[in-house]
Amino acid sequence: MAKTVSMLTEFFGKYDPMSIEAYMDLGGFKALEEVVKSNKEDTIEIIKASGLRGRGGAGYPTGVKLEQSAAVPGDRKVVICNADEGEPGTFKDRQFLEFDPFKIVEGMVMSAFLMGGTEGYIYIREEYAHLHHLSINAVEKAREKGFLGNNILGSGMSFDIRVFSGAGAYVCGEGGALIESIEGKQGKPRRKPPYTKQCGLWQLPTLVINVETLAALPTIINHGADEYAGMGCADSKGTKVISLSGKVNKPGAYEVAFGITLNEIINDLGGGMRDGSTPNFLQIGGASGPIIPADKFNLKLCYQELWDNGFDVGSGAIVVADQTTDLADYLHTVYEFFEDESCGKCTPCREGNRQIVILLHKVAHGTGSQKDLDLAVRFANHMKGTSFCGLGKTAPAPLLTAVKNMNSDLLK
Ligand SMILES: Cc1cc2nc3c(=O)[nH]c(=O)nc-3n(C[C@H](O)[C@H](O)[C@H](O)COP(=O)(O)O)c2cc1C
Ligand code: SF4
Repeated sequence: MAKTVSMLTEFFGKYDPMSIEAYMDLGGFKALEEVVKSNKEDTIEIIKASGLRGRGGAGYPTGVKLEQSAAVPGDRKVVICNADEGEPGTFKDRQFLEFDPFKIVEGMVMSAFLMGGTEGYIYIREEYAHLHHLSINAVEKAREKGFLGNNILGSGMSFDIRVFSGAGAYVCGEGGALIESIEGKQGKPRRKPPYTKQCGLWQLPTLVINVETLAALPTIINHGADEYAGMGCADSKGTKVISLSGKVNKPGAYEVAFGITLNEIINDLGGGMRDGSTPNFLQIGGASGPIIPADKFNLKLCYQELWDNGFDVGSGAIVVADQTTDLADYLHTVYEFFEDESCGKCTPCREGNRQIVILLHKVAHGTGSQKDLDLAVRFANHMKGTSFCGLGKTAPAPLLTAVKNMNSDLLK
């Protein structure tokens, strides 16, 4: 498959994910050994030079995030691996949890070294219960080998990791809600400021970082920032693991260099449309991601190019629909999801999603009008501007992009 690359995923299928020796035979933990012998600031500069952005959805530059976390004082600091992966259509972190769990641990210890972390958590979604043992094993084996515990690799650093299961709430992927959940409270987002990096778990300075982002850290050290940044496009360096599903012949998780077009993703990776059907639209970045009509499939998977066109990379999920999928019905299902998953803490999101579901139900069943769509858009804009957390701020994206680009498809 010419358009795929193998960098972050280079160890997939090449070792027994229960065996730390097998991981080390492939060069595992070499990056950590190198990093603990180096100057922290220099390593953070390497991560900055790689251009890596957080792969949890927001795309914040990881080197800057590490630098900011490192600057926060504290004897006790926390690193949380966000393995909640609750965004519908997204199943890329799961590949790392299943095929390369030691790399996540290595990435966490590296992050801890760079920002002064003393305790770590892997927060895994409950629905991945069948994978929990792999993370638990990776942590135990790393501890036995001295990659966790006191004075790691003679660096003077002490750090350990606990594996924590979520309880099945989408909102718990949001950093603040995730932290409340670990603290044993209801998973509801926290007010910011104070920011998580200053006051997170147990009021300690905390770094919440995505699985794929963590996997990229040792990869960048092993390959060098130049090789990593040499792939992709100007503002979007390196590679991304995308989760491709919907009406394509070959759904799956694929590692690609940024810069590949949406058409290439569907045709070259996905093997084209199922049953030779015609693509109609896709949704990128999960349920809270924008709807992109087929006439824009020449766009590249690049942060800036998608932002410039009103879209986003998000988690990198791509769900492709053909002409047999009714767009209004699709959106109605999306907003039923948000209505269920809204934590109810703030009015715009709790009530806004509910009202949008009612309006889209009418539109999907042929009794809605442009007036209903306009009202749904008013609710969506209000949610975007006034919701308390990212869920309510991003949930409007599918409706707003669908109305902007495919209004006539909604009203049959
Ligand atoms: C409702 C909601 C759900 C989220 N779910 C996830 C998730 O499942 N995994 C994830 O890594 N980030 C998720 N995020 C983003 C996190 O809040 C956070 O930005 C991310 O974990 C930071 O890691 P990164 O810098 O490596 O991207 C979610 C955000 C929101 C608002
Ligand atoms: S935006 Fe939604 S999920 Fe976030 S706090 Fe408000 S109600 Fe809860």
